[in-house]
Amino acid sequence: MCGIVGYVGPQQALDVVIAGLRRLEYRGYDSAGVAVVSDSGIHTRKKAGKLVNLENELDFDPLPASHTGIGHTRWATHGAPNDVNAHPHVSEDGTIAVIHNGIIENFALLRDELIDRGVKLRSETDTEIVAHMLAAQMTESASLADGLRAVCQRLTGAFTLVVVHSETPDVVVAARRNSPLVVGRGEGENFLASDVSAFIAHTRHAIELGQDQIVEITPESVTVTDFFGQPVDVNEYEVTWDSAAAEKGGYDLFMLKEIAEQPKAIADTLLGRIDASGKVSLEDMNLSHGELKAIDKIIITACGTAYHAGMIAKYAIEHWTRVACEVELASEFRYRDPILDKNTLVISISQSGETMDTLMAMRYAREQGSKVLAICNTNGSTIPRESDAVIYTHAGPEVAVASTKAFLTQIVACYLFAMYLAQVRGTGYGESSSEIALELGRMSAKVDLVLDTSEAIRDLAIEIADARSILFIGRSVGFPVALEGALKLKELAYMHAEGFAAGELKHGPIALLEDGLPVFIVVPPQGDELHDKIVSNIQEVRARGAKTIVLAEEDDMSINEFASHIIRLPKCPDLLQPLVAVVPLQIFACEMATVKGYDVDQPRNLAKSVTVE
Ligand code: AGP
Repeated sequence: MCGIVGYVGPQQALDVVIAGLRRLEYRGYDSAGVAVVSDSGIHTRKKAGKLVNLENELDFDPLPASHTGIGHTRWATHGAPNDVNAHPHVSEDGTIAVIHNGIIENFALLRDELIDRGVKLRSETDTEIVAHMLAAQMTESASLADGLRAVCQRLTGAFTLVVVHSETPDVVVAARRNSPLVVGRGEGENFLASDVSAFIAHTRHAIELGQDQIVEITPESVTVTDFFGQPVDVNEYEVTWDSAAAEKGGYDLFMLKEIAEQPKAIADTLLGRIDASGKVSLEDMNLSHGELKAIDKIIITACGTAYHAGMIAKYAIEHWTRVACEVELASEFRYRDPILDKNTLVISISQSGETMDTLMAMRYAREQGSKVLAICNTNGSTIPRESDAVIYTHAGPEVAVASTKAFLTQIVACYLFAMYLAQVRGTGYGESSSEIALELGRMSAKVDLVLDTSEAIRDLAIEIADARSILFIGRSVGFPVALEGALKLKELAYMHAEGFAAGELKHGPIALLEDGLPVFIVVPPQGDELHDKIVSNIQEVRARGAKTIVLAEEDDMSINEFASHIIRLPKCPDLLQPLVAVVPLQIFACEMATVKGYDVDQPRNLAKSVTVE
């Protein structure tokens, strides 16, 4: 999604802003721009395409020196990704520049008002209207913050706006509704950004802005108020992620680094939450035992990879707790008139904590009186801040757009919640969940073992790089693993890929099978009641000439004669197998994209956090 940076202080603003935008590139964008305020007024430069295009423009046509600046990387929503629609947008009189992340839903009405007043709009964007509205407002407002406050009261939708005014060169003001914004408090300088990675090279003191808040920064001050001018308490915290953590750490790709970090991410997420006896502790989750015992239904809402984590969680939650659990695509959930009440627990799974579909589904659930538990990887982001309870995953910064370590830690957090719920409710599975909790504690080492399959998988990717389609099948928790393997291949290698429940093959998809078609099959542990059924599926697939790539336990010889390729997995309990089974599929998709020469960390058309519906 869009990246935002603001700066005011003794440094050259342009240098700080451009460096900050570079740290936000992972969010995905299609144009970039900057504005600085100097004694001669506001100066902007903006270009479609990658940041390097803007830097070339700045080399060709430099900006004046300045200590106040804002910058933006845009992921187009209204209007094509071109120079004119790139941010910042400037008022007709040149006194206001604005950058924006989100969507102004009443944009058309406000645009028509401006046109009726004779304003000449230059772009197709919703953002530009804010520049014109604010310039007009400033004739009546005492300060830039007051002016922006008055404008925000007329806007509906999701917006983070950052503005500068030619008349107040050492001030940057921002407004936050829905889309993320964080303040970096420095020594004699202050920062604004979409996330902390843009300024942690300068300061680790961060302030998370809340809903409908205005912040004014000068070199010496940070002032936060609500949309009516009232001071508000702020959540100030120390950023623990150092810049190295968000760098590639010696890997060629963020994605490879993050795949390799998965054992540590699992261990960090489990830390302090399972004791030596296998007892799970989630006391800081903020759901009382009484509230947990009153739950009579669980609904998990999420998107994309997070949704697949929810599908896996469903099997564990129902098996261990005997509480009915549904899994819903967040973008569908609130439009189907779901049945919710105060005894329904809604679980919102989100790495970024800013996915608008998931956020709006969560808000809907709370309006219906349900409690919401967030499972999130980003401290202080909107979804956990607006939830009743939260379980943070501790995967660390996930920079690659394709989610890997966040996915595994989402599954781990869901397992922890299910075990804890079983313990609190004393279900028949409560005792065995202690044993399974100890097994969960051993999964980090098992994931580490699977990382060694990279070489063989790279050769496989080269071998089937020309396939016109690749299928993935599995049963039970292997089915969401198959879906995730297909999604990874789609988003990274831009190939057609599809995941199926293996039992569904004979109901249609088997017609797709033809000579040489690669099919990945996730085989459950040998003790699993579904093991023999999936071995039969492998035979069906092989009999039709398809290339069978079988993921199976290290000592499972039953599949050998039907497998074109075998990827061995460490032994583990059935329900925990996704943690090891998905890793080779992540590596495969990453290697296939590399073979094809694509941008693995920032795949085309994708954004790391989709903060629009
Ligand atoms: C994952 O590889 C994708 N980039 C995407 O499906 C992602 O999982 C989805 O957009 C949800 O994001 P979130 O976890 O930040 O809410």
